[in-house]
Amino acid sequence: MEEDIEGVMVIDRLSFSDPWCYNFYKSSLKDIFLIIEKGGEICGYLVACVCHDLKKAVVIRVAVHPDHRGEGFGRSLMRRCLEIIVARDIEVVELDVELVSRAAIRLYEKFGFKIENIIVFPSDYPGDEETFYVMRLRLPKPNDSISQVN
Ligand SMILES: CC(C)(COP(=O)(O)OP(=O)(O)OC[C@H]1O[C@@H](n2cnc3c(N)ncnc32)[C@H](O)[C@@H]1OP(=O)(O)O)[C@@H](O)C(=O)NCCC(=O)NCCS
Repeated sequence: MEEDIEGVMVIDRLSFSDPWCYNFYKSSLKDIFLIIEKGGEICGYLVACVCHDLKKAVVIRVAVHPDHRGEGFGRSLMRRCLEIIVARDIEVVELDVELVSRAAIRLYEKFGFKIENIIVFPSDYPGDEETFYVMRLRLPKPNDSISQVN
């Protein structure tokens, strides 16, 4: 998986104004680190971490190559991530998303994430920090049963 980091970093640089360095990705290999490929090319990735003590997971980074957006890769990555998290008996997933990232907010809402909090940086805050939503999803237990009633 370490050999995938360079490909992930290409997408990272195209997607974020604060790209992660190599070592940041390397240390993420012990967390949930998913990539999605098409024809041998990395098209997207997702990084999440799990805090078992708090029964909570945080999606830290998700991006799809600009040439492959709108093809369902983001949805597939998020679906797989949530499957892994549910199987680990985690109850809550959180993430931060910039208010301007409309596509990401729609994606998260489709999976049932709800806005929990808004983080607004004061206008005199140094740097170019954006306003963020904190979004949260409460997950079913792995052995909760769902049955069809009709
Ligand atoms: C957010 C992102 C990962 C979505 O990936 P994607 O592969 O393009 O998304 P999908 O094709 O799987 O679409 C899934 C859903 O996301 C939403 N969505 C995707 N692109 C959208 C757009 N341009 N506008 C509005 N909603 C959009 C839709 O709800 C879509 O479901 P639908 O097709 O049933 O309407 C991608 O746009 C991206 O990499 N953005 C830049 C990085 C980023 O903002 N990451 C999130 C940081 S928190």
